[in-house]
Amino acid sequence: MDVEERSQKDNAPPSSEAPEKFGRTLRAQFLLEPECTYLNHGSYGALARPVADAANALRLQAERQPSRFMVEELPDLIRDSADSLGKYLGARGRDIVFVDNATTAVNAVLRSLAFLPGDEVVTTSFCYNAVRKTLEFITERANARLVTAEIPFPLISPADTVQAIASSMTRRTRLLVVDHVSSETGLVLPINDIVRLARSRNIPVLVDGAHAPGMLPVKLDQLDATWYAGNCHKWLGAPRGSGFLWTYSDFQPRVRPTTISHFVSNGYNRAFDWPGTKDFSAWLSVPAAIDFRASLGEAEIYAYCRRLTARAARLLSDTWQSDMGSPRGMMGFVATVALPSPTKATPAAAERIRHVLRTNHNLETFVKAIDDRFWVRVSAYVYNDLSEFERLAELAPKVAAEL
Ligand SMILES: Cc1ncc(COP(=O)(O)O)c(C=O)c1O
Repeated sequence: MDVEERSQKDNAPPSSEAPEKFGRTLRAQFLLEPECTYLNHGSYGALARPVADAANALRLQAERQPSRFMVEELPDLIRDSADSLGKYLGARGRDIVFVDNATTAVNAVLRSLAFLPGDEVVTTSFCYNAVRKTLEFITERANARLVTAEIPFPLISPADTVQAIASSMTRRTRLLVVDHVSSETGLVLPINDIVRLARSRNIPVLVDGAHAPGMLPVKLDQLDATWYAGNCHKWLGAPRGSGFLWTYSDFQPRVRPTTISHFVSNGYNRAFDWPGTKDFSAWLSVPAAIDFRASLGEAEIYAYCRRLTARAARLLSDTWQSDMGSPRGMMGFVATVALPSPTKATPAAAERIRHVLRTNHNLETFVKAIDDRFWVRVSAYVYNDLSEFERLAELAPKVAAEL
């Protein structure tokens, strides 16, 4: 569906409301406190009961005979889980390894690469802070240069992003690190065009897809990136601790886990599949999370959450008479809207708004200071409905006015 078609769908009248199984009806299936208005699924996810039950059952299975579990059952269970994730993401399971989170996946790639003095690594101004810190670490260590493509925000069009990245690349560019979905702004970047651009110049690409699986129909084999780092605990609905790394086969011999262990020389899968003794239930619960989504319907999840996100963004920006951070065609399940305030925005003041909303109003959302303005980032997931965003629309300006 193109941008235009999607925005027409988002504008559809309420008579085509989403199926009743979503929103409030579904909330009881999640372990969240029932009275909390939870508009921050994107940060840490939130578990549905059937997935939590599956994770608990796996933990109990391990306890029945820990040695047998670790030595004989675990290796195949991990590969089965990777196969299941691969099927979901349009990839081969053997190209996927699990790690604790996207930060670890990005670190595994970046710390496996060797740069020379004068080499350049390109990223964008949307780069997630933990990833930027890792990039600073590896480029400083090698006397290489970190180049930041400045992407305008609020963004007008996807082409601006591709243009900003293209003009930051030079003959010395050795790597591009780019978000699929930007954390701060929720913008869905035109990742196919960006990867195509880099590949046309023979530049390897690490895609930071921490937010994408479950929010966007990711097809890894078609994307043609070099590496794709992701999380299953956010939109896919698996327990925290279920990050992953997909690596194009030619590059697998060169990538090493962040923790070197027994099997580091035994190939990509084995090197990552044993990071030392730990609780593996999060990795192994990924198939249960995929099954839970299938029980709701993948297409219905996308339709409900996209539409709710678009409606929530419009509601907030109309109520607050303020800007949206992303054009409609670049929104997934996360939207960013400027929050008017008499006070100049600072990171501490943004945290304060968030704290007051959480503590005094039992409402969880994400507030950021960007270029002296407050921006509220909302997540819309299957258990949310529009009334929760109406609550935020009313409360947030009051809290901001009382800083
Ligand atoms: C774009 C992006 N990269 C990386 C991360 C880090 O994810 P984690 O904390 O699970 O490693 C996030 C988290 O929200 C993110 O949005």
